[in-house]
Amino acid sequence: MLRLTLLWLPVFLFFFSSSSARPAPYAMRISCGARINVRTPPTYTRWYKDFAYTGGIPANATQPSFITPHLKTLRYFPLSEGPENCYIINRVPKGHYSVRIFFGLVEHDIDNEPLFEVSVEGTIIHSLKSGWTSHDEQVFAEALVFLLDNTVSICFHSTGHGDPSIISIEILQIDDKAYYYGPEWGKGIILKTTSRVTCGTAKPKFDEDYSGDHWGGDRFWHPIRTFGKNADEPRSTEGSIKQASVAPNFYPEALYQSAIVSTNSQPDLTYTMDVDPNKNYSIWLHFAEIDASITGAGQRVFDVLINGETEFENIDVVDMSGDRYTALVLNKTVALSGRTLTITLHPKKGHVILNAIEVFQIIVAESKTSAEEVRALQALKKALGLPNRFGWNGDPCVPTEHPWSGADCHFDKSGRKWFIDGLGLDNQGLRGFLPNEISKLHHLKSLNLSGNTIHGAIPSSLGTVISLEILDLSYNFLNRSIPESLGKLTALRRLNLNGNSLSGRVPTALGGRLLNGASFNFTDNPGLCGIPGLPKCGPHLSVGAKIGIAFGIFMSLLLLVLCSWCWWKRRQNILRTQQIAAARSAPYAKSRTQSSHDIQMSRCPSRGRTAAENGPSLLS
Ligand SMILES: *[C@@H]1O[C@H](CO)[C@@H](O)[C@H](O)[C@H]1NC(C)=O
Ligand SMILES: *[C@@H]1O[C@H](CO)[C@@H](O)[C@H](O)[C@H]1NC(C)=O
Ligand SMILES: *[C@@H]1O[C@H](CO)[C@@H](O)[C@H](O)[C@H]1NC(C)=O
Ligand SMILES: *[C@@H]1O[C@H](CO)[C@@H](O)[C@H](O)[C@H]1NC(C)=O
Ligand SMILES: *[C@@H]1O[C@H](CO)[C@@H](O)[C@H](O)[C@H]1NC(C)=O
Ligand SMILES: *[C@@H]1O[C@H](CO)[C@@H](O)[C@H](O)[C@H]1NC(C)=O
Repeated sequence: MLRLTLLWLPVFLFFFSSSSARPAPYAMRISCGARINVRTPPTYTRWYKDFAYTGGIPANATQPSFITPHLKTLRYFPLSEGPENCYIINRVPKGHYSVRIFFGLVEHDIDNEPLFEVSVEGTIIHSLKSGWTSHDEQVFAEALVFLLDNTVSICFHSTGHGDPSIISIEILQIDDKAYYYGPEWGKGIILKTTSRVTCGTAKPKFDEDYSGDHWGGDRFWHPIRTFGKNADEPRSTEGSIKQASVAPNFYPEALYQSAIVSTNSQPDLTYTMDVDPNKNYSIWLHFAEIDASITGAGQRVFDVLINGETEFENIDVVDMSGDRYTALVLNKTVALSGRTLTITLHPKKGHVILNAIEVFQIIVAESKTSAEEVRALQALKKALGLPNRFGWNGDPCVPTEHPWSGADCHFDKSGRKWFIDGLGLDNQGLRGFLPNEISKLHHLKSLNLSGNTIHGAIPSSLGTVISLEILDLSYNFLNRSIPESLGKLTALRRLNLNGNSLSGRVPTALGGRLLNGASFNFTDNPGLCGIPGLPKCGPHLSVGAKIGIAFGIFMSLLLLVLCSWCWWKRRQNILRTQQIAAARSAPYAKSRTQSSHDIQMSRCPSRGRTAAENGPSLLS
């Protein structure tokens, strides 16, 4: 079983932060492959072990970057474990979360940089790019997601380039409104962290290192000391910053205590990064006037251009934030068609200043597969003992790039759900039986399980899957009769039941359909009968007729027993009467006995009790 179910006991850590009465956010940190819970410096963060869970292989880890949590182990998933492996974490309170996964290298295999994909709740949030091990900000994937059904599934999809290797998984609750950017923002949106930089410092920092609020989600800030050949200047301050750690994003104050300021030799500040084309991005810019030379509003004014378009005009940080040493956060959503994102700060008055940048890719969350159909497939997986290579983990239909092998999916736009409309598991060496739950695949049009080692009966519930057009169960070991219910499958065009051990009469409703050009094959079943091409069946008897016959036989036997008893009893009486009569007048006694015998014979069959009544009466 590769589906890892983590049932964690210590779910809530109800400690209260000193600044407010709000409880601490839910936080779940997993050290993959660890045998014991561990704590890491400098904040003594607690990481839970996952050692009790099967699937994947625990190994010693080599950390590709110094920003990777200092955990000694990882879990990796060779292809023999299947192309899709998931952690399913239960009992996660409904809410908004930052989900982060750090990747690692297996200790004995450090030259092998694996490339794979990561999905959260069925939506791909990250594809590792070659060279990731040498870029600090690429050693993890992070996305902001809404988790609404008390569980989260995080899956790793092999792409044929090495084994997915995971050091840690963090599920950190953030404010419900965190990173709200406008009306399009909402529960169906995932923000994938593409870049987060802190300006004017050389130290990479996590919110935790900055003593940031736990509701901030422990963001990682990649440092940029300078934007261009030291033509700009770093600034920093020890002074406190107003309006920094406020809802909904709770940025650490220290983020605003350093900045880059442009100079005369390079008046513009330009930040460029690679992006995926034809995606929407949410861009967040952070400012605080920490330059002692600026004493009031109107002294520093600039524009912000994104890929050459002016997105913010006449920014005056002191004026807009209300004061010096006060945080100002601006956000903008842009659609990018090209592969680069360029953010330019262009001065109108004085020089420009910039404290930090965040860039998120906006991803529309995938709709999931109908829960009932997922349960049906899981029952089938179990009943047929599906091997790992099928990768039946996570959601069957999403990510759409990695559906379960053999499953054909159909999206229902009105219900916003995926359904299974085809299953092709033919010639896969499967052994087992067909579970009743297969009938819960209400949208199935085609089912091909031909050429396996499936035993037992065809479940009669299959007759409720009225959408079925193609049913191929040929070349298995199915026995018993074909359920009558299959006659209800009026859409059925092809039915292959040949090459099994089926017996009994082919349902008449199916036989009749043959006339309408459907193609059915019942050959090579030793005991089937009843349609042209198959042997003739014995006389056809309904269940009622069978019960009637059985009842008739029973009654006849009962009658026979009773009559024998009557006869025997009378015989006894006659003998006794004859003995008495012989002592008196023999002819009288004989005639009387004869007549009672006639009456008895005629009454005996009509009522079972008569014999008993007459018996004693003869004696009186
Ligand atoms: C992992 O490292 C520990 C020591 O740190 C060692 O005892 C153990 O054998 C290693 N495990 C593997 C699978 O290499
Ligand atoms: C982001 O910008 C939009 C519109 O510009 C604004 O309504 C929203 O409040 C901003 N979000 C945050 C968290 O400040
Ligand atoms: C970008 O956002 C616009 C407006 O919300 C939307 O119509 C468009 O489909 C989005 N594009 C992508 C690639 O998500
Ligand atoms: C089912 O699979 C078998 C074996 O792959 C194939 O020969 C057969 O044509 C398929 N059945 C249908 C109805 O397509
Ligand atoms: C049908 O097959 C099953 C499983 O192989 C077996 O247990 C059962 O006895 C068989 N029933 C009949 C009527 O042959
Ligand atoms: C039915 O199946 C048998 C093998 O079991 C095959 O020889 C025959 O050609 C099939 N008939 C049709 C009409 O496909």
